Amino acid sequence: MELLGKKIVLGITGGIAAYKAAELTRLLLKQGAEVQVVMTEAATHFVGPVTFQALSGKPVFTDQWDARMANNMAHIDLSREADLILVAPASADFLARVAQGQAGDLLTTLVLARDCPLLVAPAMNRQMWENPATQRNAATLAADGIAILGPGCGEQACGETGDGRMLEPAELLEEIIAFFQPKVLAGRKVLLTAGPTFEALDPVRGITNLSSGKMGYALARACRQAGAEVLLVSGPTGLPCPRGVVRVDVTAALEMHQAVLAKAAASDVFIGVAAVADYRPATPAERKIKKSAATMQVDLVKNPDILADVAALPKPPYCVGFAAESHDLPTYAEGKRVNKKLPLVVGNLITDGFGGDHNTVVLFDAAGAHPLPTASKAEVARAIVAAIAERLA
Ligand code: CTP
Repeated sequence: MELLGKKIVLGITGGIAAYKAAELTRLLLKQGAEVQVVMTEAATHFVGPVTFQALSGKPVFTDQWDARMANNMAHIDLSREADLILVAPASADFLARVAQGQAGDLLTTLVLARDCPLLVAPAMNRQMWENPATQRNAATLAADGIAILGPGCGEQACGETGDGRMLEPAELLEEIIAFFQPKVLAGRKVLLTAGPTFEALDPVRGITNLSSGKMGYALARACRQAGAEVLLVSGPTGLPCPRGVVRVDVTAALEMHQAVLAKAAASDVFIGVAAVADYRPATPAERKIKKSAATMQVDLVKNPDILADVAALPKPPYCVGFAAESHDLPTYAEGKRVNKKLPLVVGNLITDGFGGDHNTVVLFDAAGAHPLPTASKAEVARAIVAAIAERLA
């Protein structure tokens, strides 16, 4: 539950994307948020308020003259306790009215009277979005500190293709979760490796390991949520790229080494989470190996140590290593930290959660060992990000 206890006013304006706000409501609730829906009159022509009442478990407000508020101050009371107002979909008309400070209906009135942040997710035909008037309004909103989420590009309800689609509910959810994270890495460039590597034996076989990539992906996501520009160099995993993260896909350790070294000097932080194969077959067969022999030997040669090479750069980024050990964690983790000349190593016992969604880690730095509580990989990632940010400052 990444939005536990957050109070969100979800404003819905008139547009076909209003039906997606139903899914968004469900996703916000699933993450523990409390959602108060406010609809414009136009929105109710697309989806009925009863749908949102059923999903949110709260009465929906559509009218500023609604007598249900004891003091008749819905426009004030609804936003007073809110952590944020999200308007999704936000029509061109709504953006225009907010840009001008108009307060002709309940939603614009409560937006004008808010004392919390406002995020809007525009949704409209591409020509409406591209129209200089809409662009001018969007620029005014941005200058007023209002966050504009999207719009996305793609096929539209009108049959045209272009910019103006509302972001998908899952994308908006990611933006809301990110919004609540402290921006402790704002302006920083973070480079990470994640996942396993795959070292080819022949065109169809190779040597790899059981790394799921989940911890590295969780860290990439947490760094982006903390405001960093994130480049993730990933070995083969089935995981989706976290929103806002740029991913470079690689297969073998040598490729990962090359991709990382091309970007390392320009990064502020490097986090090596990948389980890089220590060795690779010396001469992978060009054709599929046939099982004619009773036994076979494979010559292996050592792969370069990506993390150690980055840490040895003349002006290295702040380097963080991982040590996944089966035993003697403090000895091995601290050994890796010293040998590779790293300011910080994140150690964990592989018995504690290999491939799982939770992790128990200990941070090792020059001052000693700092255990973190067992938590979901998302929470552990945030704690690691906080620790990195503290040490960077
Ligand atoms: N690492 C790397 N390049 C390698 C090997 C490891 O960048 N060729 C990084 C990993 O991403 C991780 C850390 O180094 O951050 C792990 O250190 P390492 O000593 O290589 O760990 P193991 O491979 O587990 O070592 P060993 O097998 O000796 O325990």
